[in-house]
Amino acid sequence: MACCYVLDLRLAPQGMPQSAYVYSVLREINPGESLRIWSPDEPTLLMAELQNHMRHTLVWRVAPDGQGYLVTLHIRSPDEPLALADTLRRDHDTMDARLARSLTLAGDGRWHEAVEEARALDRALRTHITLENDLLAPLAAQEVSGPTSLMRREHDDILIQLDAIAEVCLAPERSCQDLHIWLSLLAASLNKHEFREETLLFAAWERAAGVRHDALLDEVRQRLSPRPPPSH
Ligand SMILES: [Fe+2]
Ligand SMILES: [Fe+2]
Repeated sequence: MACCYVLDLRLAPQGMPQSAYVYSVLREINPGESLRIWSPDEPTLLMAELQNHMRHTLVWRVAPDGQGYLVTLHIRSPDEPLALADTLRRDHDTMDARLARSLTLAGDGRWHEAVEEARALDRALRTHITLENDLLAPLAAQEVSGPTSLMRREHDDILIQLDAIAEVCLAPERSCQDLHIWLSLLAASLNKHEFREETLLFAAWERAAGVRHDALLDEVRQRLSPRPPPSH
């Protein structure tokens, strides 16, 4: 990370959250470029917030610096590979965006488009769940046994909800209201589920992958990449 300009958080405009201040600067920086931030406070929470805003494209390191901390961060360009945890987080974000679109379409009464989005979400989410259950959970099943069991139970619940959504999509009465209700339930489940995985499991999987990390990451990427819908 060759660097660069230093953004001093003590100079943030009064009343403006630090994360918004940094984000406003990051938006002007191109992927592949770097920035340094000087923060008077320990920056873990700030960086987690920025990582969400930036769709998991940030890589950074933190070093104590005088009375504060110096963060050197880099925005990955599209051709720079994501690590395992970031790849999974990005898949969560992509599915969340699809679910949000489907909810909006169902709310607007646009049946065909809502069903199309719901079916694409169904395929992506089932693939994601299979990957987590079969490939990733065994990596650290003992190290994080409680969160792993909880994850599997939540997956079972989510699959039941996906079945219910699939039924609503096939029902002859075409009720956008029913579809909206089931999608809302799924959104609530996924919200908690994804947060738990991201905070309790992803880092453990990343660590446990060890020397197999790159091969595992390749397999995860291949399995998560969007596929055309099955032809009937
Ligand atoms: Fe999951
Ligand atoms: Fe997940």
